[in-house]
Amino acid sequence: MEVNLLTLIYLISSVTFIVGLKMLSHPAKARNGNLIAAAGMTIAIVGTIFLYKDDNGHTLHNYGWIFGGIIIGGIIGTVAAQKVKMTAMPEMVSMFNGMGGACAALISVVEFNHVTEAFHSTAGAVLLEDNHSIIGHILTIYAGSLIGSVSFAGSVIAWGKLNGKIKDYSFKGQHIFNLVVLAAILVLIVFLMFNFNENYYRFFYLIPILSLLYGVLFVLPIGGADMPVVISLLNSFTGVAAACGGFLYDNKVMLTGGILVGAAGTLLTILMCKAMNRSLKNVLIGSFGGNNITGAQSNTGGSYKEISVSDAAVALAYARKVMIVPGYGLAVAQAQHACHELEKLLEEKGVEVKYAIHPVAGRMPGHMNVLLAEADVNYENLLEMEQANEAFNTTDVVLVLGANDVVNPAAKTDPSSPIYGMPILEVEDAKMVIVNKRSMKPGYAGIENQLFYQPKTSMLFGDAKAVLQQLIAEVKQL
Ligand code: TAP
Repeated sequence: MEVNLLTLIYLISSVTFIVGLKMLSHPAKARNGNLIAAAGMTIAIVGTIFLYKDDNGHTLHNYGWIFGGIIIGGIIGTVAAQKVKMTAMPEMVSMFNGMGGACAALISVVEFNHVTEAFHSTAGAVLLEDNHSIIGHILTIYAGSLIGSVSFAGSVIAWGKLNGKIKDYSFKGQHIFNLVVLAAILVLIVFLMFNFNENYYRFFYLIPILSLLYGVLFVLPIGGADMPVVISLLNSFTGVAAACGGFLYDNKVMLTGGILVGAAGTLLTILMCKAMNRSLKNVLIGSFGGNNITGAQSNTGGSYKEISVSDAAVALAYARKVMIVPGYGLAVAQAQHACHELEKLLEEKGVEVKYAIHPVAGRMPGHMNVLLAEADVNYENLLEMEQANEAFNTTDVVLVLGANDVVNPAAKTDPSSPIYGMPILEVEDAKMVIVNKRSMKPGYAGIENQLFYQPKTSMLFGDAKAVLQQLIAEVKQL
C-alpha cells in the first residue's frame, strides 16, 4: 500500500515539475510555477523519508542525519535567498547549481562504497561480464561522479567570475591539456570497468579528483561575454548528474527531475549560443582572454560628449518614438520602477515608448524581463532583439540605461574583439542615442565601447535611479 502511495506521490511530483517548468516561460506565471514545482519537490522528499522501503522491506532509519541535513541546509538556503540582492542572484544560482553537482558526485562515491562492500560479501567477485545490470549500475556511478564533479567545480569558478573574485585565466596549450585530462578520466573509467577488483578500487577516487580539476580548467579561461552559455551548460550537467542518482536508486522522481533540468539546460545552452551567434565548440575552446582590451577596443583617446538632464528630458519629451535599452546597470541601481514611471509620463505626452531586450542583457537568462515585470511594465512593450533592430531606424531617441556590451558595435566591426559575432542591439540606427552609466568603465566583457564616442551619442552620467528620478522631475515641468 505504502509503495503504491509513494509511486502516486512521485507521479504527482513529476507532473508539478513539468507544469512548473512550463509556467516559468512567462514572467507573469513564473512565481506560481516555481511554488508549484517546490511543493511537488517537498511532497516527494517527505514521501521518500517516511514511505520508502527497500526490496527487503526496510524503511529509512537514519532520521537524525536526514533531518540534521534538511534543517542546516534549509536554514542556510533560506537566509542566503532572503539576503541576496537581485543583482547577485545569478551568482547564487550558480553556487546552488554547483551544490546539486556536488550532491550527485557524493551519491556516486557513497554508492561505489556500497557496491564494493556487496562484492566483498559475495563469495568472490561476481564476473561483471555476466551481469549487465551491475555493469550499468557501476557505469552510472562513474558517470555521476564525473559529471557531478565537473558541474560542482565549474559552477564554483562561474560563481567567482560572476562576482568578480576570479579573473579569466589560461595558459599556453590549455586546450590540449584539458583534452588530456578528460581523456585520462575516460581511459580510467574503461580500465576500472574491466578491472573491477579490490586491487584497483582506490583508483576510483581519481575520477572525481580529475573531474574537479577538469571543471576548474574548463571554466577558468572562458571569456566574460560567453559566461551565459557556460552557466546554462553547467546547469544541464547537474541535471544529468542528478538523473544518474535517479538510476542508481531506481527513484523515478529524481530521474524525472534530473532529466527535466538536463533537457531544459541543454535547450537553454542552444538558445544562448544562438543569441551570442557562437557555436558551443567556439565558446568552449575559442574565447580565451575575454578580459583583455585589445586593438580597436582600447581607448583611442576619442572624445565623447555629455548631455545635461534637462536637455535629455527635452529630447525625450519631444520625441515621437523612444526606445529604452535596459542593461545590467538598471538592475544594479534597482531603477526599474523609476524607469516605468518615466515611460508612463512620456506616454502621457504622446511619445511611443518601447523596450529593446537583448537575450543576454544583465547576468541571467530573462534578467531584464523579470526586472521590468517587477515594475509592472506591460509585456507588450518589450521588443525582442530582432524586432528592436528593425525599429531603430524609425526611432528618434534611444535611452540606454546601464547597458554596455549588448550595444557594443565592436561585435560587428572588430574581428579581434572577444564579443565579435555576437548580435547586438543596433542603437546607432536611431536618430539620437543617450547613454546613462556612471563612468566610462567597460561592461562585463571588459572591453571599451566605441558607441560612446560616436557623434550621435551623448553620455548622461550618474546612477540610473538618481538620473531617472531627475529626468522624471524635468519631464513633469515640460
Ligand atoms: P554590461 O556590459 O555588464 O554593462 C553594464 C553597465 O552598467 C556597466 O558598463 C556599468 O558602467 C553600468 N552600471 C553599473 N551600475 C550602474 C548604475 N548603478 N547606474 C547606471 N549604470 C550602471 O551589461 P549588459 O549590457 O547588460 O551586458 C550583459 C553582459 O553580461 C554581457 O557581456 C553578457 O554576455 C554577460 N553575461 C550575461 C549573462 C546572462 S545569461 N544575461 C550571464 C553572465 C554574463 P559604469 O560602471 O560606468 O556605471
